[in-house]
Amino acid sequence: MTDVGRTLDHVSPFYITTPIYYVNDAPHIGHAYTTVTADAIARWHRLLGDETMFLTGTDEHGLKVQRAAEENGRTPAEHAQLTSQRFRDTWDSLDVAYDQYIRTTEPRHHVATQELLTKVKDNGYIYKDTYAGFYCVGCEAYYVEDDLGPDNTCPVHEKPVEWLEEDNYFFKLSALADELTAWLESGAVRPDGKRNEALGIIKQGLDDVSISRTSIDWGVPVPWDEGHVFYVWYDALINYATAAGFGSDTESFEKWWPHVHHVIGKDILRFHCVYWPAMLIAAGLQPPKQINVHGYLLLGGKKLSKTGLTQIAPADLTGTFGVDGFRYHLLRDVSFGPDSDFSHEGMVVRYNTDLANNLGNLLNRVATVVGKKCGGIGPTPNPESPLAAVVADAYAKTADFWDKMQPSFALDATWDIIKAANVYLEQNEPWKMEAGSPEVMNVMGDAIEVLRIAAILSSPALTSSTDEIWRRIGLEGSPADQVLPGAAQWGGYPGGLEVEKGAPLFPRLKVEENS
Ligand code: MSP
Repeated sequence: MTDVGRTLDHVSPFYITTPIYYVNDAPHIGHAYTTVTADAIARWHRLLGDETMFLTGTDEHGLKVQRAAEENGRTPAEHAQLTSQRFRDTWDSLDVAYDQYIRTTEPRHHVATQELLTKVKDNGYIYKDTYAGFYCVGCEAYYVEDDLGPDNTCPVHEKPVEWLEEDNYFFKLSALADELTAWLESGAVRPDGKRNEALGIIKQGLDDVSISRTSIDWGVPVPWDEGHVFYVWYDALINYATAAGFGSDTESFEKWWPHVHHVIGKDILRFHCVYWPAMLIAAGLQPPKQINVHGYLLLGGKKLSKTGLTQIAPADLTGTFGVDGFRYHLLRDVSFGPDSDFSHEGMVVRYNTDLANNLGNLLNRVATVVGKKCGGIGPTPNPESPLAAVVADAYAKTADFWDKMQPSFALDATWDIIKAANVYLEQNEPWKMEAGSPEVMNVMGDAIEVLRIAAILSSPALTSSTDEIWRRIGLEGSPADQVLPGAAQWGGYPGGLEVEKGAPLFPRLKVEENS
């Protein structure tokens, strides 16, 4: 088998990040979509043997947090501590295996922010001026009048914006259009439609942007001018550099930074695909290697929102679908890039088709027939099996799609082997074969080998059920500890292991009862 995963453009080490979430919001399935996607991609890279670092965390400064804290009778620090924990708990409950959880209130982040922005200033890209404009506290952003909705409302939050006037430090974004265009044209932003959107922003003309505030003090202080704090977005973006070691561990930063891959929603494209690379270039640092931009998860055609009471917490769904069922839905049903409407019914259908009927059924058949016809001991696969070629082809596609950050297509390709194994069993009917015959041993050795490989390839999505499949077919350790592509080569199941028949891993759901 060719080494597909490694011939594509990723290199070890691999550094992947989610946006850092605003602490004032409760974690919902939109946040979970980004985080589970990044987690699955990190898991895929660990399978490839890449030294992987996966970062998530919380964005804790700014007016929004300061006000929410006041409303709750807490200090901003107390408020941030409590609300940050909700994200951490949610990610833990969803089997999100982050390597670092950054909080922007950490001292190391203050140091990194001050150091990076001082470099930008020393390089001549920061100056002082007065700013007046419409400000949305929800977005923590200024708006020009043309972008506002009726009655001066924020286009995102549909709430009135405020008029703010203050002395600000400005970042000379306008001076960096050529560098940004070159970076975007090098293919750093995916998918292409989102890269074109970023190019469009630059073509419209870039204004300098305000990067400090005097109206609040809940932020990272501007080191050269007391009374100013950096505007929350500029401190927030720097989290990715802080966690890599900027300002605290140069060796670590140099190791990880050239390999950074951001995963973000399209709502924050401008900050990530225009302002952030510009700041890095102005500081004399490398702009991000890659930014992957996905669409919105919608409910009834609208973005999930607190004001519209359309937020769904992951825990509302994991009770019915299990953590793996929930993760699988996000990764398989939501194509990375376009917007996608959330549907409970669609989720039930996907769960029943792919997990209960295909994977669950294959496991159940293997355990039952091996129990009855092979003395409960898993046979070795047949080197000449027709399924070997199906697996090789599916592996190549799976690896290619994970590499292109397209989990839904990757999982679809992996399911080809599960479906092929079920068809193979139906065609050969091993349940009708003579117990202990070479025929039944061959067929069951092949089916069990498909289960082994499918468990490895689907482990980035199905974290605990693939461990259970592994255990039931008698293997030690975890599918997540295997190394690709070698582990996906046909013939890896050693045979002679006890196979256990357990309760259905994915009990079928009834559409009526769960919608
Ligand atoms: N704090 C900023 C990000 C700073 S990163 C340096 C922020 N936070 S947020 O809490 O609002 O999270 C935004 C991210 O959450 C989106 O970019 C997206 O990844 C995810 N999503 C929030 N709602 C979503 C949907 N309805 N659908 C898909 N993703 C969603 O912006």
